[in-house]
Amino acid sequence: MPQIPVKIHELTVGQLSARSGAAVSALHFYEAKGLISSRRTSGNQRRYTRDALRRVAFVRAAQRVGIPLATIRDALAGLPEERTPTREDWARLSENWRAELDARIQQLGRLRDHLTDCIGCGCLSLETCVLSNPDDVIGEQISGSRLMGEKKRG
Ligand code: FES
Repeated sequence: MPQIPVKIHELTVGQLSARSGAAVSALHFYEAKGLISSRRTSGNQRRYTRDALRRVAFVRAAQRVGIPLATIRDALAGLPEERTPTREDWARLSENWRAELDARIQQLGRLRDHLTDCIGCGCLSLETCVLSNPDDVIGEQISGSRLMGEKKRG
């Protein structure tokens, strides 16, 4: 990644892209989602402060571990004066996300364990296919209805 001289305080979108490794389209997307911000020059070109580099690194690191953009945006918005996250911020926030990641890993493990039932099947049944209905929502609704019916009858 190309270094940006310290005397440069603002970056073009191309410089931010080259330095962060994020595609220009991704940077525009992050900006549209409120994850980074820029000012516009008189020629309507974007200019980012240097700390946008750290914000982009934060966003990309969080995305790599599967944190949804809305969660990342909330985390950034929750920092005092929406400052750029520090090392301590990342440590604290990533610790908070651990439970969410653990739950997702467990769910993926369950999906993996049941994938063999789906190979060559293609039914994608909401009642029997774990890939179609990984949380077994219908099954829970059915058993809940049955339970309620049983209570009324019983
Ligand atoms: S596709 Fe048939 S069980 Fe999943």
